[in-house]
Amino acid sequence: MSSHLRLGVNIDHVATIRNARGGDHPDPWRAVQIVEQAGGDGITIHLREDRRHIRDADLDAVIQRTRLPVNLEMAATEEMLAIALRHRPHAACIVPERREERTTEGGLDAAGLHNQLAPMVARLNEAGVRVSLFIEPDPRQIEAAIWLGAPVVELHTGKYAHATGPALADELKRIADAAALAARNGIEPHAGHGLTFDNVGPIAAIPQLAELNIGHFLIGEAIFIGLEASIREMRACMDAARGSMRGKA
Ligand code: PXP
Repeated sequence: MSSHLRLGVNIDHVATIRNARGGDHPDPWRAVQIVEQAGGDGITIHLREDRRHIRDADLDAVIQRTRLPVNLEMAATEEMLAIALRHRPHAACIVPERREERTTEGGLDAAGLHNQLAPMVARLNEAGVRVSLFIEPDPRQIEAAIWLGAPVVELHTGKYAHATGPALADELKRIADAAALAARNGIEPHAGHGLTFDNVGPIAAIPQLAELNIGHFLIGEAIFIGLEASIREMRACMDAARGSMRGKA
């Protein structure tokens, strides 16, 4: 079993709350500092095309100031590619994006978008940015990621998060199988979307997964228990599921 499962904290919704009033509070940078103190392993931010939460200035501040690796979630557009190449974050996760959606709904069709993605993945790889493709846990999409030369895939856990009854076990198996297939082919599997204290355990126990990216629940829970406690509790849930392997790598 791979030892330390990294926790990337997505701070987008700190910016959502800030933007609701148009001022500068709460400041996403302050959230980054708390993620650092709480033992988060990375900062994830999604600079959406409509800038509904994270803005260009947030990205500048986070990239320049944090000691943690930054994972930039981005749509497969020329504008976002140029931004990623200018900032050179540690990682860039290419996600599907539609303006009318509330959040990233469903994975990227890496297979169908091969021609659009291939040059983008190549340019990010050349620039030393670790490219990740946010895909459904589907063998066809993993095959596409292999062809595209992506070093990382992030498996969309949204269907798992919303499943109940027998569908839950099916969704979990799809994710476990996809993680194993990716790892067998030299791709580092990550996972994320819709994860909470209650549902993270079975995902964290999938041995091939190297990183989880979690946002909405952590920021929501922070309203009640504080951001640091929220991150520490998530860390504890992940470690418990992995057999407390943290620090023993
Ligand atoms: N990973 C990716 C690629 C995402 O787009 C999101 C949502 O922005 C997340 C993880 C985090 O999902 P959630 O906010 O539901 O925890």
